[in-house]
Formats: sequence, structure tokens, C-alpha cells
Amino acid sequence: MKVLVVGSGGREHALCWKIAQSSLCETLICAPGNVGISQVAELAPVGAEDLAGLVALAKDRAVDLVVVGPEAPLVLGLADALREAGIPVFGPGQGAAELEGSKGFMKDVLAKAGVPTAWYGRFTEAEAARAFVREKGAPIVVKTDGLAAGKGVILCQTVEEGLAAVDSMMVEKIFGEAGSEVVIEEFLVGEEASFFALCDGKNALPLAAAQDHKAVGEGDTGPNTGGMGAYSPAPVFTEAMQDLVMAEVVAPTLKTMAEMGRPYTGVLFVGLMVTADGPKVLEYNVRFGDPECQVLMARLDSDLLPVLMAAAKGDLSGESLSWKDECALVVVMAAKGYPGAYQKGTEIKGLEAANAVPGVTVLHAGTKDGGAGKVLAAGGRVLGVTAHGETVREARDRAYAAVDAINWPEGFCRRDIAWRALERESE
Ligand code: AMP
Ligand code: GLY
Repeated sequence: MKVLVVGSGGREHALCWKIAQSSLCETLICAPGNVGISQVAELAPVGAEDLAGLVALAKDRAVDLVVVGPEAPLVLGLADALREAGIPVFGPGQGAAELEGSKGFMKDVLAKAGVPTAWYGRFTEAEAARAFVREKGAPIVVKTDGLAAGKGVILCQTVEEGLAAVDSMMVEKIFGEAGSEVVIEEFLVGEEASFFALCDGKNALPLAAAQDHKAVGEGDTGPNTGGMGAYSPAPVFTEAMQDLVMAEVVAPTLKTMAEMGRPYTGVLFVGLMVTADGPKVLEYNVRFGDPECQVLMARLDSDLLPVLMAAAKGDLSGESLSWKDECALVVVMAAKGYPGAYQKGTEIKGLEAANAVPGVTVLHAGTKDGGAGKVLAAGGRVLGVTAHGETVREARDRAYAAVDAINWPEGFCRRDIAWRALERESE
């Protein structure tokens, strides 16, 4: 098979790394990719949001399957454009990608499907939104309807904060058009976990759960990032909980989406809060998490390619997956200053030594080729140092041994990835 992976981050490196190991994969192309990905795939210089360019590339190269990594091209309709051209694609069409593109749409789908989630209201008028905040009281959560680079969520401890959040989104428009509509919802208390399932429009195949660390600082402090590290399995997410989520969250969601004429194909990323009343859905994403994908791929024993193809072709029934009986953990190395302003183009050394640590694979998130064998930083999140081990502790120790072998003075990482799981392990 000839496979095209779209994207250029750590998630796409993890997908390419795994797909390249498949005996079914003859040619692997990644557009646009990065230096790390170039070690396992051929790079094509077409941007992830250049829909016409990607369709042309897939046709030119007679690709058998396209795997779309990021949400932006899905929300723009890349999967529809490829399907119209007769090319099998792993990823939802524009109508189904609205599960991530519009929080209000997602909440309406959850309500229709009867999926446990926070109560909510949708508002396009600031006065009605303020009245809802006053009526419900605090704590309360105010969210932009549209995508706001992961920043459009304000957790409000008081009614005053809730009213100020409404004004900043709807009147001052600090998140632009993403805030012309808001969702106001119940503040849920518990432990968060992310669960992933492959979907073919009708059926779903469970992957696994992971937990990530969104805050930039140790002890989960400081501003939110795209994710500074993750681990899988997630101890809070038991096998019984997986069965419950497959039956009461994923299945009714797929049924409702199909009934709405928006069948969901691809990976469904279920963001959950495990509350005292059981797991409740916080959000859906229409793609693999980054860096959660890195740990899922490190733990997956089966070949990934046949199930991606089966999902794309609409028949996952009869497929199954096996997982290594091990833990995986990823430590993200970012450029100093991230998630604020940071320097680009600094040189990273020691990657070979890091990759030589047993059980470690260094996945690239934002790198570029500096010529003469040099690897340069080219983004905020730059590397995902991924390790597996028999215990979380072993995976953690291997990952940090690899981090210590990397010579990149302009980079940093959190030193406490998986602290929650480590505490549980030592109990
Ligand atoms: P989201 O972008 O919707 O995932 O929200 C970002 C983060 O805000 C989540 O990972 C949670 O930590 C937090 N959050 C979102 N919604 C709620 C909620 N209803 N209750 C409590 N925390 C929330
Ligand atoms: N790591 C969280 C995300 O991919 O949205």
C-alpha cells in the first residue's frame, strides 16, 4: 500500500513511525512532515491546509489511503475532497468534524444521544448569557463556540468572573469570531482522562486511554499548552469504565451522527472528567491527541494500517487490536518561552545518544533540517521523548535518561510527567 499522512507534528511522526513498521506499507509519504519524519517517510512539500494540493498529490502518487493528522484540514473539508476524488481517507468529513469545530454543536449531539456530560446553554446574545450565569451561579464554565487555539475556555469561580468572561468573549471579542457564540456549562469536578476509539461511520473499535499534562509548569501550574507530556494506560480509566464509555458514549454518538447525515469516520478523541457520578464528556476532538498519540503508538502491538484502512472503507466489524502489557510515557521538550514567545532555529544535539537509551524513541514535533546533519528547532513543542517500560516508573526513568542525553540549552521540559500515576504505583 501507498500511504499519505497529512501533518507535521509529533502526532504525525508517531503515526508514520508506526505505519512504516507495517509489512503492508510499501511507500509512505508525509505532507509536509519534519526532519524526524523524513527518517521513516518521504516528505512532500504540500501544506496540511492546502486541500487542492493534497488531493493532487494523492492522485499523482496513486495513494491507497490518506491519514489526516490535525483538525484544521478536517474542519476545512479535506476528507470530503479526497472521498469525492475516490481516495480512501481516515478522518471525518466537514459535517462530522464540527464535533470539534463547534462546541455548541457537540453539546447538542451529546444531548440528543443521551451521553453523560455537563448541563449547558448556547448563547448568541450577551444579555441572555449573563442572565444564565446569574441564574445558575458559580462555579461555572464559559467557552467560545469556535476553535480558539485551545484558549477559549474560562473556568469561573464566581458569578462576577462568569459575567466578565461573557463580556470578554461576546463584547470585547478577545477570541475574535470564535466567541460570537458561547457555551456556558456546569463546572465538573474530578480527574481528567482522554479515551480514543476508531470509527467507521457505524462501528467503533476501542483504542486506549491516556492522560496528558496541559499546564506548562511542574505541579500542573502556569499557562496551558498543547500538552507537555502524557502516559498510557490511564490508571483512573479502568476496563469497566472503557466498556461503559464504549456503550454509553461512543455508540450513541455514532448512531446520532449517522442519523444526522454526518457519519463519523476516523478517530474519536473523548475528553472525559471522571466524576463521583462516573465519567462525563468534556469535549470531543476529531483527531488523535498530541502528545497522546505518541504513547498510544508506543503501546500498540498490532499493525495499525489494516484498521485505519478498514475504518476508511467503512467496515471495522471483525477487527481487533492487541496492546503491549506495558506503560508508555512521553516527555515533551519545548523551546524556552513556550507557550509565549520563543526562539527558533537553535541547534539540537545528542539525538542519537537519546535514541540509544533502551525503550526510547525520540519523536519530532517541530524540527527542521539545518544541513550537514544538523537538526534545528522550528516550533514551540519540538521533541516528544517517548519510552515504554514494565512500570510507569521504568518508562519515566528511561524517558528522562534520554532527555538528559539531549544537548539543547534553549529547550526545557517538565520533570514531573505522570506524577499522579507514579503516586498510585507507589501506593
Ligand atoms: P476543553 O478545551 O473543552 O477541553 O477545555 C480545556 C480544559 O478546561 C479541560 O481540559 C478541563 O481541564 C477544563 N474544563 C473544560 N470544561 C470543563 C468543565 N465543564 N468543568 C471543569 N473543567 C472543565
Ligand atoms: N493534548 C491535547 C490535544 O491534543 O488536544
